[in-house]
Amino acid sequence: MKPISRRQVLVLGGLGTATILTGCTGLFLSANGGYVSNIAENFLEPATLKSVNGALQLKLTSAEGRVQIAGRPATILSYNGGVPGPTWKVQPGDTVKVSVENQLSEPTNLHVHGLHVSPSGNSDNVLVSIDPGSSFDYEYQLPEDHPPGVYWYHPHHHGNVATQVFGGLYGAIIVEDPTPIPVSRERVLVISDITLDASGSIPGSSEMDTMVGREGNLILVNGQALPTMAALPGERERWRIVNACASRYVRLRLDGQELQLLGIDSGRFAEPRDVTEVVLAPGNRADLLVTTVTGTATLQTLPVDRGSAMGMMGGTRGSSTSANLATLVVAGTPATALAGVPIQPRPRDLRASAVDGSRELVFAMGMGGMGMGGGGSMMSFTVDGKEFDPTRIDTVVEGGSVEEWTLTNTSPMDHPIHLHVWPMQIVEQNGSAVQEILWQDVVNVPANSRVRVRIPFDDFTGTTVYHCHILDHEDLGMMGLINAT
Ligand code: C2O
Ligand code: CU
Ligand code: CU
Repeated sequence: MKPISRRQVLVLGGLGTATILTGCTGLFLSANGGYVSNIAENFLEPATLKSVNGALQLKLTSAEGRVQIAGRPATILSYNGGVPGPTWKVQPGDTVKVSVENQLSEPTNLHVHGLHVSPSGNSDNVLVSIDPGSSFDYEYQLPEDHPPGVYWYHPHHHGNVATQVFGGLYGAIIVEDPTPIPVSRERVLVISDITLDASGSIPGSSEMDTMVGREGNLILVNGQALPTMAALPGERERWRIVNACASRYVRLRLDGQELQLLGIDSGRFAEPRDVTEVVLAPGNRADLLVTTVTGTATLQTLPVDRGSAMGMMGGTRGSSTSANLATLVVAGTPATALAGVPIQPRPRDLRASAVDGSRELVFAMGMGGMGMGGGGSMMSFTVDGKEFDPTRIDTVVEGGSVEEWTLTNTSPMDHPIHLHVWPMQIVEQNGSAVQEILWQDVVNVPANSRVRVRIPFDDFTGTTVYHCHILDHEDLGMMGLINAT
């Protein structure tokens, strides 16, 4: 087992310090084997593919190859040769057809994270396996009342998920609002992390990195290192932010600017919330309004304590570093004021409703798991004492019912728990009732604690999964199959 990579921690600490001292210009020499990132580029976004007349059709080719990362060529994975892949912009009620061609050397597939669509057939079916050299045609039918929000797509082939997402396979999906929100500018910010060596390749992960959940020493926004955005004062920008990191939690700040959160994951708060920071576990998204104030602001991520794989042995703690992610330069003549943000429909609230059933899911780590490598030196990552088995249905729910689930984490690390197809309303955290209406599809369950959620199993039946969205944990077995009948 490779020793804990303390050097990677120092690299990130150093990035923060170095960029402050040098005023964020010029080339930054990464301490990780000499990969040179070209920082301070102008902010770029992936191409946007917009549905027309209720339909969007696209092709995604997943392949390994040379792409631009942090302003330099790197040999990683990508959809259609770019990282992130193209942004899909769709409306409730749309039909989306995606042909995935697998040019990787291992199986893959596609998952539309957070979309409320069927998990069966050639819809959002995570049990599909696309072999190297072959293709698969997905078709997703969004309901007419699909919640607006920020979603994303990524591979979900069990055992390869962390490597493929960390390798560069992800992209944003936007479901637009039925009533548009007046803004001066929209931006998509896909945050990801990666580790590259001097030749621009991804070194393998140690067992310890895998158990903690691999984190890269470069944190990217749309594949760029510290890009610069420009705006006039008094603009209302809308930032759709995806945490596409395989394991890293981010705690985002943009000090000096006014931030309001429209929603997290799917749907909207009834009114935008004033915030100073936004914490996103892996897989979470934020729909953020930024009202600009003259000056130069830095989008940064601050440390999040998500525990350690070896609590008792004092191993690596994840997401424990700070980094600067982007710069926003606000200058010039003030922009003209915009109309107010329309009040959103009041979100559904299940806190006072009766539930049809309750169950507990226990997320645990133990010694001596077989893991994917079968080596036996890895810890085990289980749900209800079992590692994932694609032939075993773990949970059966009745279509149309509302259940209350207690998500119990008995381990010394946080686990961000994700359920496909159906968003969860968080009703209790660590023993206290949640005082607001809070819907998410990735719910962080802190180390040694529990969170209660209520889930309406509406609209679809079929088989899908719940799992930890630290993707290494998912690959190691912290996932279960659920069948809605
Ligand atoms: Cu974002 Cu099951 O995944
Ligand atoms: Cu998902
Ligand atoms: Cu986990």
